Amino acid sequence: MADRAVLEVAGVTKRFGNHAALDAVSFAVHEREVVALLGDNGAGKSTLVKCIAGIHRPDHGTVLLDGAPLPPGTSAAGRDSGIGIVFQDLALFDNMSIAENLFAGREPCRPRFPRGLGIVRRRVMLDEARRTLHRLEVQVPNLRTPVGLLSGGQRQAIAVSRGIAFARRVVVLDEPTAALGIRERTNVLRLVRQLPENGIAVILISHNLEEVVAVADRAVVLRQGRLVGEVPARPRTTRRWCR
Ligand SMILES: Nc1ncnc2c1ncn2[C@@H]1O[C@H](COP(=O)(O)OP(=O)(O)O)[C@@H](O)[C@H]1O
Ligand SMILES: [Mg+2]
Repeated sequence: MADRAVLEVAGVTKRFGNHAALDAVSFAVHEREVVALLGDNGAGKSTLVKCIAGIHRPDHGTVLLDGAPLPPGTSAAGRDSGIGIVFQDLALFDNMSIAENLFAGREPCRPRFPRGLGIVRRRVMLDEARRTLHRLEVQVPNLRTPVGLLSGGQRQAIAVSRGIAFARRVVVLDEPTAALGIRERTNVLRLVRQLPENGIAVILISHNLEEVVAVADRAVVLRQGRLVGEVPARPRTTRRWCR
C-alpha cells in the first residue's frame, strides 16, 4: 500500500439545525486501499458520503482529492471527477432503461449547440453500456429494460456498476450489499475487490462485519458524528475472501 492519500476528509463538520451529523471528522484513504466505514444507524455515514459527493456542503472542513480541495459545489457524480459513488438509496430512475441509468447525466452526446446541449448518441450509449456491464460481469436481461422492472439484486448491481464505471481514483459505496441474498452479495463484493487491483481506492460502508473483514484493509468507526476508532490493517496474506 502506497501512503499517498487519494481522498482525504479533513475536519468535516456538517450540522442540520443544532444537530451535528458530522463533528470534525478526519480520515484518508490511500492508493489501492479499501477502508471500511462502520457505525450505527444515524452515526453520520451517509451524510459523509453526501459531503464527499458535493450534495452537502460542509459547515467546516474540506474534502481533498489527490491533495487538492474539491471546489465547493463539485458534483462527484460527474464523469470527469474521478470519484464514483454508490448511494444508499441507489438513486436509480425506475422509468428509465438500464443503459440510460448507467449514463444518467453523462450521456455521450453529439454536440449541436455551443452551450453543452446535444443529441444523445443512443447507439454509442448502448454499446458502451454493454461493454461496461460485460467488463464488470454483470448480467441483465436487456439494456432497454426499465430499471423499475428489475429484482432488488439486479437494481443494486446496476447502481454499483453506475458508481464504479467511470471512477478513476476512488469509489465510495454506501451499504451496497444491504438487503441482498448471498449470491448477489458475492457478486457485489467481487466488483469491490477488483477496484484496488485497478489502482482505485475504496471506502466501503457496511453493517456486515464478515464482509468488512473479508475485503477491507482497515476500518474506521463513526459514532454520533465523531470518528471514535480505527481498526488497523490486517496483513493481506491473512485475509479471507467472502465466497
Ligand atoms: N437532510 C437531513 N436533514 C436533517 N437531518 C438529517 C439529514 N440527513 C441526515 N440527518 C440526520 O443526521 C444524522 C446522521 O444521518 P445519516 O448520515 O443518514 O446516518 P447513517 O448513514 O450513519 O445511518 C441522523 O441523526 C439523521 O437524522
Ligand atoms: Mg446511511
